[in-house]
Amino acid sequence: MEKIIIQGDRPLNGTISVSGAKNAALPLIAATLLAPGTYKLHNVPDLRDTRTMLKVMEILGAVWTRQGKTVIIDSTNLTGLEAPYDLVKTMRASVLVLGPLLARSGYARVSLPGGCAIGARPINYHLRGFEQLGVTTVLAEGYVEARVDGKLQGNVVYFDNPSVTGTENILMTAVLAEGTTVIKNAAREPEVSNLIDMLVSMGAVIEGRGDDRLTIHGVKTLNPVEATIIPDRIETGTYLIAVAATGGEVTITDCCPDHLPSLIEKLRSCGVQIEEGKGTITVKREKQAEIRSTDIKTMPYPGFPTDLQAQFMALMIQADGVAVINETIFENRFMHVAELQRMAADVRINGSSALVKGKPRKLLCGTQVMATDLRASASLVIAGLAAHGKTEVSRIYHLERGYENMVEKLSLLGADIKKIQE
Ligand code: EPU
Repeated sequence: MEKIIIQGDRPLNGTISVSGAKNAALPLIAATLLAPGTYKLHNVPDLRDTRTMLKVMEILGAVWTRQGKTVIIDSTNLTGLEAPYDLVKTMRASVLVLGPLLARSGYARVSLPGGCAIGARPINYHLRGFEQLGVTTVLAEGYVEARVDGKLQGNVVYFDNPSVTGTENILMTAVLAEGTTVIKNAAREPEVSNLIDMLVSMGAVIEGRGDDRLTIHGVKTLNPVEATIIPDRIETGTYLIAVAATGGEVTITDCCPDHLPSLIEKLRSCGVQIEEGKGTITVKREKQAEIRSTDIKTMPYPGFPTDLQAQFMALMIQADGVAVINETIFENRFMHVAELQRMAADVRINGSSALVKGKPRKLLCGTQVMATDLRASASLVIAGLAAHGKTEVSRIYHLERGYENMVEKLSLLGADIKKIQE
């Protein structure tokens, strides 16, 4: 197994570009199942999760090749309609094939994902939504077997919480249903809008892009297209926080500043300088400048993303004052706290809140820590870059699910970081 070794307390300086968004690439890859033919997806990050999604596509009979950042997928001949446990257990987003398979073939069998390090993460909203569109679902032997009886029928689908992949799955089903579907309390994340843009270019009729109420007028057929994955806002945010934590000045290119309204505002209130450009963000923290403690509460977009909560905590552990971090999306997303405490961070958890008492950076020290999930791993890397001494992060396979070339990108900025075989 590989681990990351960091010699901390070095500023980051220079320019890096961000990759395409993992959480947009996954639904866009799944959407190529909707209409037979050849699709070209641009700016697809080469990550463990995108590779897993492409494996799922292979199992279903799609054929794909990669040319640089472009993935060409031919979904003409589907030979299977089942996503097996072995793949789904490694990536929950495999459930995104349910919607397009139901729309195209009227049947799908997908393993239930099971537990997850950050919370229970059920898929009941997806299943309820499918049922409202005329799908019968049966849970048996750890699988959900979904079947369209007759034709998919448009209907009103309401989510108790705005679910990102739930909204995407229902969108991909409703586009080929008879009549009109209205998704109420839909997720408004930019990744959902990226999918809507692709579906519309395929011939779907969807109103309300970016809104929490989406209206889908079903069409009879869709066409294969070319589509481009949006920049990864969570990767962008992770590097913004890293520079805020270490000091230095970095320009991030190929990104979309508009997709990070809450983080940019929070970093500014911490005292970090941020300049937004067209497709670029420059972040600067003077060497001696103090970081002010700032509270955050994770919320659906455009609120503060749960996928940046752990990284923001790695900044707050060195801030001046006390910050309250409230996690409202997932019930178990504080696994990084025990590891940050090993680096001398002062964090106390009370239910869904964490009280972070910042301390001077010189009192935070590197040590051996263990990554527990993707974003927790990024948090430990940030803490290690800022702390004194050596940090060893093990179980970094989590990191490779969602960050393309993180070690190389941070090295480019002057970090003393390397990957070694344990
Ligand atoms: N929920 C249910 N039932 C459902 C669906 C969701 O109770 O059927 C609950 C969840 O437990 C959670 C809330 O609704 O409390 C929102 O979850 P959501 O469905 O939006 O999460 P998701 O679609 O499974 C996506 C991202 C996650 C990200 C969340 C929240 C993808 C592939 N994954 O997950 O990304 O944290 O939205 O923004 O888009 C990550 O990249 O590290 C990651 C975990």
